[in-house]
Amino acid sequence: MLEEDINTIIRERRSIFPVEYNGKEVSKAFIKMMLENANYAPTHKLTQPWRFKVLQGSAKERLAIFLSDTYTDITSETDFSPFKHKKIIRNCNAASAIVAICLQRDKKERVPEWEEVASMAMAVQNMWLTCTANKIGCYWSSPKLIDYLGDFFDFEDGERCYGFFYLGHYDKEQKDASKRDPIEVKVQWLE
Ligand SMILES: Cc1cc2nc3c(=O)[nH]c(=O)nc-3n(C[C@H](O)[C@H](O)[C@H](O)COP(=O)(O)O)c2cc1C
Repeated sequence: MLEEDINTIIRERRSIFPVEYNGKEVSKAFIKMMLENANYAPTHKLTQPWRFKVLQGSAKERLAIFLSDTYTDITSETDFSPFKHKKIIRNCNAASAIVAICLQRDKKERVPEWEEVASMAMAVQNMWLTCTANKIGCYWSSPKLIDYLGDFFDFEDGERCYGFFYLGHYDKEQKDASKRDPIEVKVQWLE
């Protein structure tokens, strides 16, 4: 791959939110390829901690009901926002697929947990860049509601969810450029 291709993909990667999705289905073949790319993330001691649960069709509808009901259950009457409740359902409906981003802690805990989280996040970056390269919208959502997913998924021992990866086709040609402080303020060169 040309250097300018990889630079473009990395720098054009954006969070594309469900409200921007156009309802067109993201193919299973694409999702499989994206997950295959996730599987090549670096991993200390080859623990390969990333786990994914792909929700489509009625599973996605069940998730929408679970999340919105849980929001109602855990929110006090004064804090309850009908807008937020609707948005939870609307986001699930708008996405063509939702991938639960999960982590399986190494049974022998051979590496610190932060290394497993780092590895899982790199797997997600592989997915995100695969989406960018294929003009498919996606974003990582990490609502408080993920703490309750043990009541929805059948987690293995030591497995937990770190968020949802929403996927959908979108029409807008290109998003605005990412806002970042210059790299120079984040780097120290030592010679
Ligand atoms: C671990 C992680 C969790 C995130 N959780 C949320 C979230 O809950 N809600 C949200 O709107 N965006 C979330 N984002 C997306 C960020 O808001 C987004 O990356 C940031 O605004 C920069 O925009 P960009 O991705 O288009 O460069 C998350 C991103 C990461 C890496």
